[in-house]
Amino acid sequence: MLKPENPLRGDYSQMRADYTVDQDWAAYTPEEHALYRRLVERQSRKLPGYACDEFIEHVNELLSDGIPLFEVANAILGRATGWQIVGVPGLIPDDVFFTHLANRRFPVTVWLRKPEEFDYIVEPDVFHDFFGHVPLLMNPVFADYLQEYGRGGMKAAALGGLGYLARLYWYTVEFGLIDTPQGLRTYGAGILSSGGEILHCVDSPAPHRVRFDLMRVMQTEYRIDRFQDTYFVIDSYDQLFRETAQDFAPLYARLRGLPIIDPSVTVGGDTLIPLARHHDLNRRSAA
Ligand code: PHE
Ligand code: FE
Repeated sequence: MLKPENPLRGDYSQMRADYTVDQDWAAYTPEEHALYRRLVERQSRKLPGYACDEFIEHVNELLSDGIPLFEVANAILGRATGWQIVGVPGLIPDDVFFTHLANRRFPVTVWLRKPEEFDYIVEPDVFHDFFGHVPLLMNPVFADYLQEYGRGGMKAAALGGLGYLARLYWYTVEFGLIDTPQGLRTYGAGILSSGGEILHCVDSPAPHRVRFDLMRVMQTEYRIDRFQDTYFVIDSYDQLFRETAQDFAPLYARLRGLPIIDPSVTVGGDTLIPLARHHDLNRRSAA
């Protein structure tokens, strides 16, 4: 994981055994606070009609002027769902990540992207991790889902299921869509922290929007370097929680005999959500 020829961004020299570090909020520069503020402003304008209601509600409860102080967020978050965020230097090993989630701790990268990375960055930074991920942790059902995911990760490691489970995370926690009476919305942190994909995922005719199906999701490859070709759409966080509550051990065994699905194609059995319907709904809600 920590390959010397491809060093991870971030300072791993001061971390504790569980990979956590102090946020050291006082060390952020005025320029960094200003950059964070601009990222929030740009993204906030795009939320109505694109982000799910839960996100919009909770992102406002967590609002800060500049880079948030984790302690302040933790008081709000703790009261809502008992989750806490912990600072980390950057990407951390899978087993460490799962252990944090299983204990209702969400690792948040402490460093902020550079100004020239305003629109796009490969690694998670404090804007992606905090703005994208933390608001949904205020939702009780989603909060429980993420904890169960962490427990599932610890279990999957022993069953050779990590690759399958990573796809579930990708297509829900990072790039998930939800069907609402007002139209399609996103609850995925990778989308919610992206200036371009937040519009694309709801408006563009290019990607496939497929009704959530657990096995289908775990069979589907993903790309980390471009907008997604396929999004999976849940009806509710309850559905997500319910359908992932079953024991995955037999599912991993079955998945090993099933084909991997390319994200650019659809397959028999998919229920596709046509674009016309949510355009229609968006028009109506704008009127
Ligand atoms: N139910 C899964 C298992 O038994 C764990 C899990 C829960 C995985 C929620 C993902 C999301 O392995
Ligand atoms: Fe993320």
